[in-house]
Amino acid sequence: MEGRNPLDGRIQIQGSKNAALPILAACMLIPGKCLLKGCPDITDIGYMCSLLKSTGAVVRTNSLEMDSGFCAEIDTQNVKEYRLPGKYVSAMRSSVVLMGAMLGRLGEVCVNYPGGCVIGERPIDLHLYGLERLGAQIWTEGNHIHAYADELKGTIIKFPFSSVGATQNTILAAVTAQGTTIIKNAAKEPEIVELCKFLNKAGANIEFPPDFMTHGILVIHGVELSRLHGVEYEIIPDRIVAGTYMFAALAAGGEIELENVPIRQLDRVCDIIIGMGAEVEKWEEEHQIRINACDRKRIVNIPYIETDIYPAFPTDLQSPLLAAACMAKGRLTVKEQIFSSRFRIVEELQRMGADVTIEKDTAIVAGGRELVGCNVIAGELRGGAALVIAGLCARGITTVADARYIRRGYQDIVGDLAKLGARIRYVNK
Ligand code: UD1
Repeated sequence: MEGRNPLDGRIQIQGSKNAALPILAACMLIPGKCLLKGCPDITDIGYMCSLLKSTGAVVRTNSLEMDSGFCAEIDTQNVKEYRLPGKYVSAMRSSVVLMGAMLGRLGEVCVNYPGGCVIGERPIDLHLYGLERLGAQIWTEGNHIHAYADELKGTIIKFPFSSVGATQNTILAAVTAQGTTIIKNAAKEPEIVELCKFLNKAGANIEFPPDFMTHGILVIHGVELSRLHGVEYEIIPDRIVAGTYMFAALAAGGEIELENVPIRQLDRVCDIIIGMGAEVEKWEEEHQIRINACDRKRIVNIPYIETDIYPAFPTDLQSPLLAAACMAKGRLTVKEQIFSSRFRIVEELQRMGADVTIEKDTAIVAGGRELVGCNVIAGELRGGAALVIAGLCARGITTVADARYIRRGYQDIVGDLAKLGARIRYVNK
């Protein structure tokens, strides 16, 4: 990309990766045909579809009559294989949520240790804790985790802290368990709510008590597997992709409009963008948002931001924020509270001329220095997207290598930004 070219125009936001993946896993639990509309067309969805196929599910994508983007139709009537192929499991961490669904459906599952982006320690102890509490026996054989349950039984499960994936896994196993499961300290991310809404539409019985948003209390009344049935479901838009483009506009300047945006889920992000000097106009019912960052003199850093669980500022937008902060005047301190090694892009930003230092879990950006284009390496999904943002602002040409990581979560970052007037193209797509 050739930087220093303000953005201008309007684009549509894709469906949410983090909502679609657990819902695809949930299809495994449902003996029938589900149609997911508005699925994002990204590598991770491809991996999950391959995993479903490997168990005997029939998966058709895209070639459907729908007009709401990419669709996936999953028929799990003939699922019988409980061993998941290592190739896809090690490529994608969220494959681990298939454990809960497969225990509920087949009573048995065997996976190897899951992979995913290299952003620090990513244990799965809480996932296994949830499944064990529901009655699963779990043991390891070499690099494989094996789980088995004659019968899953509802119980009270209190997580020591909130984990999105562990909550999803536990919900999936509890849907067809005998009796009622109460999860305390469940994750409260919108993607959890979506998974439950999808499951309820398919015949599950999950309650959100009034203390869900305060204490993360979820109540799952077990139902017979035969009560579950296929459904059609629309995947919500991707709050992280929308947030990435909002930071891109803040950093590169100009005025953009985003359509299909989950506005309520971006309250904290909007506050930060406004705090950094951009104008934000929202049309909540129309799901549209406009970011105006034309007046470059007004773009400044706010002193301190920390990542935390929803509804606080999401860790997935921490790297895009860092890239944007390099362009804003003044100093920003960012504390990363969710993942231990999520500052991998800092070295690449420094090579572009940014003044960023790291102290343990905190990054300090002294913004306002000119970035200079060079060859950088994506390394992981959100960090890769952040380097694209930095490239849009840098003098000269920036080349982001290993852009395949970005394709794991962004359907077409190059096409989207080109539509907004960026001078950007794929080399060796
Ligand atoms: C999900 C999202 C990811 C997002 C993250 C936090 C998907 C596919 N991915 O990841 O994009 O960045 O939520 O919002 O939805 N932990 C443990 N033990 C466990 C599980 C987690 O210690 O068994 C720790 C993790 O190392 C991390 C924290 O808990 O420090 C939160 O992780 P978690 O919420 O589980 O994230 P993911 O589900 O992996």
